[in-house]
Amino acid sequence: MLLGGNETTKKIDSFAINELKIPSIVLMENAAISFVKHIDENEDNFLIICGKGNNGGDGYAIARQLFSKGKNVKIFCISNENMSNDCMINYKICKNMGIKIFYKTEELDKLLLDCNVVIEGIFGTGLNSEIKGIYREIIEKINTASNNKAIYSIDIPSGINGDNGEIMGISVKADITISFVTYKKGFLNSKIKDYLGKVIIENIGLNETNINHLVKEYYLTPDMVKSFHIKRNKDSHKGDFGKVLIFAGSSGFYGAGNIVAKSCVRTGAGLTTVITDKNNFSLNVFVPEAMSFPINFDNINENLEKLENEILNSDIIAIGPGIGKSKQAFLIFEKLISIEKNNKGNTIKLILDADALNLLAESRELLEKIRNRSVLTPHLVEFSRLTRFSPEVINKNKFEIAKEFSRKYGIILLLKGKNTIITNGEELFANSTGNSHMANGGMGDCLTGIICSLAGQKYDLMKSASIGAYLHGKIADELVRRQYTVNATDVIDNISKYMNKIFR
Ligand code: APR
Repeated sequence: MLLGGNETTKKIDSFAINELKIPSIVLMENAAISFVKHIDENEDNFLIICGKGNNGGDGYAIARQLFSKGKNVKIFCISNENMSNDCMINYKICKNMGIKIFYKTEELDKLLLDCNVVIEGIFGTGLNSEIKGIYREIIEKINTASNNKAIYSIDIPSGINGDNGEIMGISVKADITISFVTYKKGFLNSKIKDYLGKVIIENIGLNETNINHLVKEYYLTPDMVKSFHIKRNKDSHKGDFGKVLIFAGSSGFYGAGNIVAKSCVRTGAGLTTVITDKNNFSLNVFVPEAMSFPINFDNINENLEKLENEILNSDIIAIGPGIGKSKQAFLIFEKLISIEKNNKGNTIKLILDADALNLLAESRELLEKIRNRSVLTPHLVEFSRLTRFSPEVINKNKFEIAKEFSRKYGIILLLKGKNTIITNGEELFANSTGNSHMANGGMGDCLTGIICSLAGQKYDLMKSASIGAYLHGKIADELVRRQYTVNATDVIDNISKYMNKIFR
């Protein structure tokens, strides 16, 4: 699903009008028809509240559509001065058709009391400053009256900034938001969850192929993830699904390595090998399918030589969870990223997480060595270390900073958080799954394991990261319906079952 802000809406509208030659009034009509499809046939008694921009114009067109179906429709017109052209056209048609239009704010309380459904088109993506005066008063009245009726918002609940989801002073609290063409970036702001209600994205008569060159940002939907699926050939063997080498877990953090390995195995990698402390006997118990490459941390040089063969044999290397920042960890890390091609001549892909990111943050030279073959999976604080921007600055301009970093270093960035984002600098996916019950130790390790496994199975790195984030969050979303806490082991136990659901 396309993801967009206020500028994207303008760009799409302008392309549709100027290049595809669809008259703007037709787009408005299409929006209204699409909107009305979501209204229960049995509902009657509507109040449509309209502003003077195109969002208000949508409101008048929706009023006409409902009126033409014989519904009881009243309109509250906030202002009929300085209306946009299409708003004026639809306002006049409503008047000509004899739909009752009210203008006085004093009448609004009674109108709200008398109706069953409120549809509001006060502001859409054109809201450009704090809401004050009469507009504020009207939104307050709508919210006060909202208890026993359904509130529908057209495109965006009036008061929400479509770009960042900030509330511009006050906002309508919708039960249902029916938005057009793009999932608005602002909807990703967790602060406005209670204002959006259920979100539906509708078409305005455009085929996505007509406009997808205009938008390179997407909200990850189940359909998209399914479309990424690569079918397994009937005659494949384990070598086709990746030789994954994992460097994760050190003394005191064996669990991290074990979790990465187990989620990698469960996600379907062909062969999984874990570089681990020679004293980590738990690996074989926790993940019997994985092989171990024991390291003697007291004599690291001897191990580095042997490691070279292991690297040359690998397709993917995942590095980071629980490795710490010791000199030994650094040497192994440096060795692992030092060889670019394996003995089949293929580029060795890298998935870098946790302490690997902390090591990278200390050296721009290391970042250069991983160009064009890596996924980095930082959370906000790790990303702040990498970029040297504060978390506050990143949060204000997350998409652009993420894309810029990704472009600059030629890496795929997966920035973890609510609505994890994945970008290659051009395209960006915002994840639609996941919840706060996942915020506990081991979850990130589990994600790393899923991603390296998918990369081993020949998904490109952008898709590996995107499917990984979606699957990881999806499993946790399903589990919290039936249990309060979710941890990495719970997710791992369900990977295979949910891959089946997502891909088939
Ligand atoms: N206070 C008062 N008026 C405001 C404020 C504000 N804070 N912010 C914007 N306006 C006015 C503008 O001057 C303009 O008249 O509201 C109107 C813009 O409202 P919108 O309808 O949101 O903007 P517009 O660009 O006309 O339409 C965008 O059209 O494609 C549809 O519904 C879709 O959201 C989309 C909308």
